[in-house]
Amino acid sequence: MAKYVIKKSNKLVPSDAMKKIAHVKNKNIYKQAAKNPIKFWEKLATEGLDWEKKWTKAYEQKLPYFKWFKGGKINFSKNCLDRHLENKSDKVAITWVPEPTKEKTIKLTYKELHEKVCKFANVLKKHKIKKGDVVSIYLPMIPEAIIAMLACTRIGAIHSVVFSAFSADALKARIQDGKAKILITADGYYRRGEKEDLLTKARRAVKSTTVNKVIIVPRLRKKIPTGRKFLNFNKELESAEPNCEPTIVNSEDTMFILYTSGTTGKPKGVVHDTGGYATQAYWTAKWNFNLHDDDVMWCTADVGWVTGHTYAFYGPLLNGATTLIYEGSPDFPNPGRWWKIIQDNKVTVFYTAPTAIRMFQKFDPKYIKKHNLKSLRILGSVGEPIDEDAWKWYFKTIGGSRCPIIDTWWQTETGGTLINALPGIGPFVPKVSGQPFPGTNLIIVDEKGKQIKKKNVVGNLVQVPPLAPGMLHGVWKNPKKYKDTYWSRFKKYYDTSDGAFLTNGGLIRITGRTDDVMKVAGHRMTTAELENAITDHQAINETAVVPIPHEVKGEVPVAFVILKHKIKDQEKFEKEIKKLTDDKIGPTARPAKIYIVEALPKTRSGKIMRRILKALLIDEEPKGLSTLLNPKSVDAIKKIIKTKK
Ligand code: PRX
Repeated sequence: MAKYVIKKSNKLVPSDAMKKIAHVKNKNIYKQAAKNPIKFWEKLATEGLDWEKKWTKAYEQKLPYFKWFKGGKINFSKNCLDRHLENKSDKVAITWVPEPTKEKTIKLTYKELHEKVCKFANVLKKHKIKKGDVVSIYLPMIPEAIIAMLACTRIGAIHSVVFSAFSADALKARIQDGKAKILITADGYYRRGEKEDLLTKARRAVKSTTVNKVIIVPRLRKKIPTGRKFLNFNKELESAEPNCEPTIVNSEDTMFILYTSGTTGKPKGVVHDTGGYATQAYWTAKWNFNLHDDDVMWCTADVGWVTGHTYAFYGPLLNGATTLIYEGSPDFPNPGRWWKIIQDNKVTVFYTAPTAIRMFQKFDPKYIKKHNLKSLRILGSVGEPIDEDAWKWYFKTIGGSRCPIIDTWWQTETGGTLINALPGIGPFVPKVSGQPFPGTNLIIVDEKGKQIKKKNVVGNLVQVPPLAPGMLHGVWKNPKKYKDTYWSRFKKYYDTSDGAFLTNGGLIRITGRTDDVMKVAGHRMTTAELENAITDHQAINETAVVPIPHEVKGEVPVAFVILKHKIKDQEKFEKEIKKLTDDKIGPTARPAKIYIVEALPKTRSGKIMRRILKALLIDEEPKGLSTLLNPKSVDAIKKIIKTKK
């Protein structure tokens, strides 16, 4: 494929070679879709998916609620598997690369995956799981994760995947909220050459919950407990029937819940339906990454996150492509690991997060040069803004200046991507995501909800109904939260809680969250979640957490704590705090620094001014001190920060 040349404008247009193979290349598609977005999505849903019964109404809305493909009947697993069996049964559906280099890569064809999914669906049925039941999945990046998830969708059960690096407490909270009947987990997995234990956390989490069966994948071949409650995944699979008729569900039936951080301390279960989600997953995967039959797509996201759901698993499988998943750490046993995987498996589409890109930028380039990355055609970025330096490095060093970068903006709530350039249309501009996917409408508004059409003026990014088909339908068992979080500021629009502006070229550039959500190495968490965890320490009275910029991770949390009483050993104290965030959330939530302070800057109404703390941390002059209840606290904190640097 020909090379692109970055001009002064920084604006790249698709190469002729890309245009030739692109599914969409005419920019009129945006205008056409905008004329009647409902009709547009109706056409896509008809062409992209196999339906058991056509819908009676394509879109119905009574904001904040809406339905896509009402009356339509579908089975999701059938769309990912059965329909490919006629022509692609021997095609590789999943390539799994285990972390230990001594272990072999495992490939599962569509036929093999189909059989395993059917078997595991029968296992679930045997354990009395039926349509609408919640199944919790706490698995690392191993094929059993997709087998378990697809098995749920085969019988209409709702999966709730929990990130494997989350703590027992975090898992428990999610199990309890979803009232899951079964937990599917593993004895552990490999990370950086170490055996990570999952089972101990899982066992602790299921205590006194609704879970009555725990099915364990013996990934580490440890001796796993078996009995009435604990079962061996492989043994269960072995004895199961290979045929399982798919349960046909309504398009609007819930397919999965995925917990994510909101403004408060308690994570919320984002609810996704079946038909709408499938439509967006199928078409965004196809068009953004220009998926063709010979593609091998590698999305490096963990299945614990929405990107793992939609682009490591479902998007490529719905399209009948091959998806590659990797169990372990990006730089194990050396920083060449990812590039070797691309070379050995001829990966064509590579989709990762800026935090990983920035990490690799720091390693010796020899680890990349050693490998042949010529199979790559398209590169993707997701999860946080990508800076120009990282963009250019990714483009040149990984993509060899041959691959467009598709900077996809979206959220757990949106189910699939919403803003990005399409490979056959472009343009590809560093830092700029692009325009809303055809048939969707996102605009920038001021605090009153009035559209900002002027270029370079930052406002709030909102989605204008009709909403994209992949959008969340609610917060699990919490309609108030749904309304308050997404529909209270701008009644007529879905509130993304992101800031954005229009570039001179009329494209959308994301500036970041406008609420208390931070992105630490791409992981979404809130200041409140961390504050709650830390304040549990018996010596702490009050905590304020603020994110500060970090060269590799994008952001890291810093904690300010007020003590109840003096502590003797500062080092021990800090360790205890880190253990608390590890236990309550997971190691990604560890504060990078902890400052003990006498008072926190507060407004007269008692609100902690995190903005001021942040300014102090990044050496900026804090503004708005006059409204503070205790302006003197600012100078004191300034001194503490200086002495601890
Ligand atoms: O702030 C935006 C940022 O990630 C948030 C959503 O996080 P999460 O639900 O974990 O989903 C991440 C993967 C879809 C958004 O509100 N974000 C996501 N993609 C981008 C981004 N910020 C800038 N550019 C992006 N491409």
